[in-house]
Amino acid sequence: MVVGAQATEIDTVVIGSGPGGYVAAIRAAELGQKVTIIESTFIGGVCLNIGCIPSKALINVGHHYQDAITDQPFGLKTSNVILDWAAAQTWKQKKVVDQLTGGVEMLLKKHKVDIVHGVASFNDNEQINVVEGDNHQLFQFKNCIIATGSRPVQIPAFEFSGRIVDSTGALSLPEIPKHLVVIGGGVIGFELGSAYLNLGSKVTVIEGLDHVLTGFDAEMIKPVLNDFKAKGGEIFTSAKAKSALQTDEDVAVTFESDGKEQTVTGDYLLVSVGRRPNTDDIGLNNTNVKLNDHGLIEVDDTMRSNVPHIYAIGDITPGPALAHKASFQGKIAAAAISGDAKAHDLHYSLPAVAYTNYELATTGETPDSIKDKHLDAKAYKFPFAANGRALSINEAVGFIRLISDNKTKALIGAQIVGPGASDLISELSLAIENGLTTEDISLTIHPHPTLGEAIMDAAELADGLAIHI
Ligand code: NAI
Repeated sequence: MVVGAQATEIDTVVIGSGPGGYVAAIRAAELGQKVTIIESTFIGGVCLNIGCIPSKALINVGHHYQDAITDQPFGLKTSNVILDWAAAQTWKQKKVVDQLTGGVEMLLKKHKVDIVHGVASFNDNEQINVVEGDNHQLFQFKNCIIATGSRPVQIPAFEFSGRIVDSTGALSLPEIPKHLVVIGGGVIGFELGSAYLNLGSKVTVIEGLDHVLTGFDAEMIKPVLNDFKAKGGEIFTSAKAKSALQTDEDVAVTFESDGKEQTVTGDYLLVSVGRRPNTDDIGLNNTNVKLNDHGLIEVDDTMRSNVPHIYAIGDITPGPALAHKASFQGKIAAAAISGDAKAHDLHYSLPAVAYTNYELATTGETPDSIKDKHLDAKAYKFPFAANGRALSINEAVGFIRLISDNKTKALIGAQIVGPGASDLISELSLAIENGLTTEDISLTIHPHPTLGEAIMDAAELADGLAIHI
């Protein structure tokens, strides 16, 4: 803790410039505040630099590579396909990440947000110390939004080094692995595992639970697992990873499955077993901000912590670690600080997407949650196999599932597996947030031929008036 130096007085300070922090900073500035944002590493945070965005870029390269090396049923045959990995990495960095993060920095400057580079930590409830190299700066603030995000969980015996990598390392491997071993069959494990499977690696996933991709039900993940296995992917569930032995060439992972000890050797090991909140090293012990047992900051529906002028958003608050949750909360916190009495988190549905083969998306209630909550509701499923657009792009796999209240017919949940799931889910979140019924959806003209028509078809099915099934 640095004391004694002169502190600069500032109004609103945002700590962290990921999709939570930079959005909060810009919105607070738009609402008339003088904002300072502090970033220790890169503007744009994990998501834009070493997470969501670069991973989607590599997943995209994997799709194109698969298309290029696979003889297509419409008669396209290719030979001599070359994947220049260095070029793919350069494209990912220069044309995707740098472009986007440069844009965010420009937006912050356009809104006259002061950007301070350095590591922030609290001295007390009103003051932070920012360190960059030998340089210390003290800031006395009126309001603070903490948006410090999360980092990968590191488990003993699998420390990140050399060939044992976290998601960041897995995005910048010097070569496409011959055999990638993944510990943790969650979203990161499957997104990156699928990407490398598409890029030609053999991939083995070791998952502690008896199923992978928790958060999506068995019916949804079936096509994903079929595709994964068809491409040679290997999955061990109820498997306890015990140790890793690394050499210059490979890494051997020993795990226990079905009571037997087994070893699988790959050239790289990705450990993706969850993320932990960055709340342990920002001096919160010098403040009155309370952390829960998971190290998360509990907030009210204006994102306010137990200290009224300190707000928290994103991965450091309870709930899923999702970039769009962080941005949503950032806008609420910014509005609340600016005195907007309407600034409350009133959302019903928080969509989640996994960019696996095939894409998975869910919003609102699920078949399991309606059972658990004893809701009087029913699920209706329309397959992409009956959708003209899906057939014409050779992606007629998966389905759209709508869940509506039996009495009111209001849409209360939806799941999609298949082409365009990540984009299509937003229409269904919009419907849920606005209390729309399946009839409201089916009476909305959807353009033809589109994947979105499958939403209209699913709604007609729920109305008992299906045309295409
Ligand atoms: P996760 O929580 O989704 O999955 C981790 C998996 O590792 C779980 O299935 C867990 O059972 C398993 N596991 C834990 N310890 C283990 C052990 N010792 N041995 C074997 N398996 C073990 O976490 P993940 O994939 O690391 O992702 C972190 C966060 O990032 C998630 O909250 C996710 O929502 C978010 N994320 C979101 C994305 C998206 O929105 N598309 C993309 C990537 C991540």
